[in-house]
Amino acid sequence: MKPLCIDHIGIAVPNLSDACALWKALGFECEHRESVADQQLVTAMFPIGESRLELLEPTSPDSTIAKFLEKKGPGIHHLAFRVADLNAALSELKARGFTLIDAAPRIGAGGQLIAFLHPKSTNGLLIELCQPVCP
Ligand code: CO
Repeated sequence: MKPLCIDHIGIAVPNLSDACALWKALGFECEHRESVADQQLVTAMFPIGESRLELLEPTSPDSTIAKFLEKKGPGIHHLAFRVADLNAALSELKARGFTLIDAAPRIGAGGQLIAFLHPKSTNGLLIELCQPVCP
């Protein structure tokens, strides 16, 4: 597996509108807002260079983002690295002993293929791998 770039940094926020106002005041522009039903969250993307900030607000107390906010408060939730072939990356990392949250790629925000590695095998850091999908 060869990580190509930091695709985005996921940031957990209790209120997306307030957080968007904050990042706009810092000079960022919102590129995209979307509700991701299966992850029970709403997200807003703010591009920075080739990368993006992904603000995440939970829409249900059962959402992993709600649990994160409860435990750790607002802040950086995950780092997402872009790869060219997510299926290949997952089997390679599994063979190297990493614990995968997602054994197979699923569809994330923006229609990208995504998968998470378990923080217990990455020193406590939640890592997302993503592969852009060409339309
Ligand atoms: Co993400």
